[in-house]
Amino acid sequence: MSKTKLKITILVDNRAQDGLIPEHGFSLWIDTGPTRILFDTGQGPALVENAAKIGIDLGQTDILALSHGHYDHTGGIPHVLQASRKAKLFCHAGVVQPRYALRNGTAKSIRIPKASMATINKLSEENLQWVSRARLISKDTGLTGPIPRETTYEDTGGPFFLDSEGRRADLIEDDLALWIRTSHGLVVCVGCCHAGIVNTLNHVFRVSGTNKLYALIGGFHLMNANKERLERTMAALRSFAPEMVIPSHCTGEKGTKILRDALGDRIVLGQSGICHTL
Ligand SMILES: [Fe+2]
Ligand SMILES: [Fe+2]
Repeated sequence: MSKTKLKITILVDNRAQDGLIPEHGFSLWIDTGPTRILFDTGQGPALVENAAKIGIDLGQTDILALSHGHYDHTGGIPHVLQASRKAKLFCHAGVVQPRYALRNGTAKSIRIPKASMATINKLSEENLQWVSRARLISKDTGLTGPIPRETTYEDTGGPFFLDSEGRRADLIEDDLALWIRTSHGLVVCVGCCHAGIVNTLNHVFRVSGTNKLYALIGGFHLMNANKERLERTMAALRSFAPEMVIPSHCTGEKGTKILRDALGDRIVLGQSGICHTL
């Protein structure tokens, strides 16, 4: 168990505290003491401005971990890896593939931006760590790797495809979560949680060797969730008994309201600028 103080700050979120920029995207700064981890980068502009205003030096990044390869989590890669030459990038190899959201017959590319791809292509072997299975990235901190889809009621949460004609569904197999073991229990960080909250937490419990959940933070992608998914997700969350849940980014208003009904004041609304120390 880590004795050092852990400090987690939301740098990019769809909502922002006064003076900071809101952006459709997500990024978390995780300072474990010895190691500074950036989990996702948002689209880029909000990350740079919010970090400067909050007083976080992205040049201190030791590890950049990506939850998955969508544009709203990966646009800041060039800035971060230019600011910090020592930073190691950890992500699933699937983050680089072309992918689309299809709505009303129109395909929109939602893949990693070109500039981020070019930056990844230039990384040395040592600075690019593909994550194909669960692994530690620093002391008491791990990435889940691909998350088995075990529940019957969770899906990726949107009309996601690997081609612009909508022939091949994108299961977003690169989706992963970051977990930190603390003296209070696990802190679990997710990007969009395309694997589903329950699948994600069950896998974190398995790979971390503990099922004491302290906090869950990130986008839960519940905006399109049906009644069965919402009810069964809330029942599972109540049984996991987290002390704090911070719904952010793509959780959606409906999902956030239902979380509040289920978990009351254990819900803290996510927005860039909020910071939690433990
Ligand atoms: Fe997202
Ligand atoms: Fe996503």
